Amino acid sequence: MTDYQAMQAELVGDINAAPDLDALEALRIAALGKTGSVSALLKTLGSLSPDERQTVGPRIHGLREAVSDAIAGRKAALEAAALEARLATERLDMSLPADDAPKGSVHPVSQVMDELAEIFADMGFAVATGPEIEDDWHNFTALNIPETHPARAMHDTFYFPDANADGQKMLLRTHTSPVQIRAMMTQEPPIRIIAPGRVYRSDSDATHTPMFHQVEGLVIDRGIHMGHLKWTLETFLKAYFERDDIVLRLRPSYFPFTEPSAEVDVGYKQEKGRRIVGGHGDDEGHAWMELLGSGMVNRRVIANCGLDPDEWQGFAFGVGVDRLAMLKYGMDDLRAFFDGDLRWLAH
Ligand code: DAH
Repeated sequence: MTDYQAMQAELVGDINAAPDLDALEALRIAALGKTGSVSALLKTLGSLSPDERQTVGPRIHGLREAVSDAIAGRKAALEAAALEARLATERLDMSLPADDAPKGSVHPVSQVMDELAEIFADMGFAVATGPEIEDDWHNFTALNIPETHPARAMHDTFYFPDANADGQKMLLRTHTSPVQIRAMMTQEPPIRIIAPGRVYRSDSDATHTPMFHQVEGLVIDRGIHMGHLKWTLETFLKAYFERDDIVLRLRPSYFPFTEPSAEVDVGYKQEKGRRIVGGHGDDEGHAWMELLGSGMVNRRVIANCGLDPDEWQGFAFGVGVDRLAMLKYGMDDLRAFFDGDLRWLAH
């Protein structure tokens, strides 16, 4: 008669000593496979008498169960060990230098917007944002640009086919000025914000792209006048261009949302085909370059936002961020900003 106990002890011992999954599979086939030793025992059950089957059957089944349990246990242990080993070889050494790894860099436009936020933060300005998909009221009407105003035609607006729930025409904002409206509608004065962001106009050539960047500035307080505007712009431009000889010239101009309005020119000098900002525009070798639009916020705009224009005054300005980036970093084709050419970005 077979000593099932001894047979089980031997098989389980071999299984637990199996060095790898292949060896374990060979043991499984040798015991439980079609012609395996345990399978052979199971086959003998049919030829036993009912009495013998009563006593021997449970032992053989018990043996088979013990063997398959041992195989499952060993298999799990070997697989866990294999995973451990693989993880150990695949480990990344985070202390290795990353010289060969591909590197990203901050886009010049993003970099300039960060610089602007930092410079204006020092002057007490917070950063405000508004939606790029605007309604007609915020982008035009509230800014004192009524339906029939020629400035609407000048803006080459991208309109959406459908109006919003209030029957407002929807559009891609043509300037960052609607953020002025949103700031005055939601904040209690005094207000000091800049609003950098994307704007859109249906226009494209070497100096115009359908999407470009502006930064808007807005101050609303009591007793604000043009002197505050000029000082703020001068302080900002000196910090931005990192030089003290920035000279501004304010030229009377017209914007519907400011009154009076001024276009701001900055003195510069042409050097090696590049415009270097600085110096008095009327000096030898210098000239003036138009840089930004500005003015005292129009009383009607202040009233449109629910504020009393007799109590609150302010100034506003708007400037092209891409233009500022080109001037500071000596780049000449605006389109390169949006080509996504990695060599240009790395340079
Ligand atoms: N929104 C004007 C534009 O896109 C720029 C501008 C001019 C903004 C004068 C202002 C401003 O805030 O006071 O052409």
